[in-house]
Amino acid sequence: MSKDALKKEAAEQAAAMVEDGTVVGLGTGSTAAFFIDALIRRARAGLKIACIPTSERSAAQARDGGLHVVGFDTHRSIDLAVDGADEIKRDTLDLTKGLGGALLREKIVAAAAKRLVIIADAEKLVDWLGERTVIPVEVVRFGYEVTADKLRQHAADVKIRATATGEMYVTDGGNYIADCHFPHIADGGVLDRKLQMIPGVVDTGLFIGMAQLALVADEHGVTRYSPR
Ligand code: A5P
Repeated sequence: MSKDALKKEAAEQAAAMVEDGTVVGLGTGSTAAFFIDALIRRARAGLKIACIPTSERSAAQARDGGLHVVGFDTHRSIDLAVDGADEIKRDTLDLTKGLGGALLREKIVAAAAKRLVIIADAEKLVDWLGERTVIPVEVVRFGYEVTADKLRQHAADVKIRATATGEMYVTDGGNYIADCHFPHIADGGVLDRKLQMIPGVVDTGLFIGMAQLALVADEHGVTRYSPR
């Protein structure tokens, strides 16, 4: 089974959990895109929902597919948010997110959601955060050089993200992303709080204690994980 087929399977199961008349948070990334596609199909079959997307990309996909896209100006709370992740710590469901650059809006949506469900293929499961990816940290543009220096006091390596064509990567919020490599993260919550103390840091890709359920697909099917 291809990785896309696995992502799709997890996404379809999450889409089946969406109830009529609810507000749904739409994640960002390739797995979340399968979820949005599945929701579009359900909406065409009669499901009535309002959606709050976590990126301009996901908003465009949702609108193009005819989903009702709303904002926090009219809807303060989200019934269910569904998003991908870059790493899922298998015991706690703590997450690393933001390789797709949408971590800030993803965290705002996750924090506003009554329930956050993560969809992924099994490669994303890890024993500790930082095992397979860097930790993305969103930083304001002003003084990003000194913010990166301060991040270097905690991380083994810090790189300001660039696009494929070599320009600075700019988030939907107009900020930069510092991709920070940590050799081993013993406690994601402690690290998150330390990084958040640095002036210029907007938010981190560490999502601690936010996910209530992960739907993780491998060639045997979709396994449901809850935080232990
Ligand atoms: C976007 O900023 C990310 O947090 C994504 O949710 C994450 O990178 C997962 O993306 P894929 O589903 O494409 O692996």
